[in-house]
Amino acid sequence: MNESQKFPSSFISNQFVPYIKAEEIDQITSSLAEQINQDYKGEEVVLIGILKGSFVFMSDLIKKIHGPLVYIDFVELESIERTKENKGTIRLSYDININISNKNVLIVEEIIDTGRALKFFMDHIKLSKPKSIEIVTLFDKAYQRTVDIKPKYIGKKIQNEFIVGHGLDLENYGRNVNDIYYLKYPN
Ligand code: IMP
Ligand code: MG
Repeated sequence: MNESQKFPSSFISNQFVPYIKAEEIDQITSSLAEQINQDYKGEEVVLIGILKGSFVFMSDLIKKIHGPLVYIDFVELESIERTKENKGTIRLSYDININISNKNVLIVEEIIDTGRALKFFMDHIKLSKPKSIEIVTLFDKAYQRTVDIKPKYIGKKIQNEFIVGHGLDLENYGRNVNDIYYLKYPN
């Protein structure tokens, strides 16, 4: 099956332009895991994935981690009443169940845009007094940032394209596509 067939026919197929191959994502993930293995060697770390988009990257990443002892958990953040003009408010719709007090926490994101969702979550988990908090993100739209969020581990910096695939969606489509495509708006 052609991967692009996973997009619905209501989306014009040539709007999706091939951008990053799964092989490149695999190399990026390996290099991130290598740094994490070094930095947390012999320690414990709690990986917290931000649902839903991060679950594919989380799965790739965890298989390459062998330095530290790893625990995993997930949260879901929702942006409510978000429109083109208004960024809306962030809501935590599903919280972690693991105790992170005095633990090393590594937040796992697939992409950071304005940083607002992560800022909200950082403020939230700081209340549990973890030993350390760092962020690993597969993609970073660093030029879009409106709040002060600095991921320690960055896979690839991209411009302001809207990308889909490998866990990232457009209206829930495309998460199951292996490669990354960018959305080309018809002019
Ligand atoms: P932020 O709060 O503006 O940083 O929003 C980050 C979240 O928006 C990400 O975790 C994604 O869920 C979503 N997002 C941002 N850019 C993209 C994109 O290009 N494709 C798919 N989802 C995106
Ligand atoms: Mg996300």
